[in-house]
Amino acid sequence: MNSFFDLLKNRRSIRKYLPKAVEADKISQITKAALMSPSSKRSNPWEFIVVQDDVTLKTLADCRPHGSQFLAGSPLGIIVTADTTKTDVWMEDASIAAILLQLQAQDLGLGSCWIQVYGRHKDDVTTTESFIRSLLNIPEHYAVLCIISIGYPDEERKPYDEDKLVISKVHSEKF
Ligand SMILES: Cc1cc2nc3c(=O)[nH]c(=O)nc-3n(C[C@H](O)[C@H](O)[C@H](O)COP(=O)(O)O)c2cc1C
Repeated sequence: MNSFFDLLKNRRSIRKYLPKAVEADKISQITKAALMSPSSKRSNPWEFIVVQDDVTLKTLADCRPHGSQFLAGSPLGIIVTADTTKTDVWMEDASIAAILLQLQAQDLGLGSCWIQVYGRHKDDVTTTESFIRSLLNIPEHYAVLCIISIGYPDEERKPYDEDKLVISKVHSEKF
């Protein structure tokens, strides 16, 4: 990868992973990247839960009726939570940390995918968030934004084609 722009072009959501563990030093670097995220007023409301246990990953994969099942085949999931009492913009702060986790993973040759938790339901009665909160002992005042699944890719995705970007979405001076 030559440049940050190349990294962005090549980052695609990866949902199939090789049955290979992510090395401890890579996990350490990925989590350190998240801890360097910018946050409003430097409140750093986020906390991360690194999950490698196969049984827990399989249980988490069922946190939603769809869109999360591939986590069962992932060697690593990082749950992104945030203390909602620290700032009103915890969602922005946690989202920035989540994308930095993904970009750092990409830079290390890993694939990743965001699994939305906040605002989703496991079933008619249980929110995805409350299911994960009780499974992983997350305190009530922490929101659970998402899970980032990470692993060595077992699928190929085409990089973004610069020529196909919708440049009309970028306005000059006025909308
Ligand atoms: C806020 C957000 C929520 C997402 N939720 C899910 C999800 O629950 N399950 C999933 O498979 N992908 C999810 N994704 C991944 C998107 O589907 C993906 O980023 C989008 O289709 C663009 O594809 P790309 O990541 O390959 O560029 C989410 C991405 C974002 C940014």
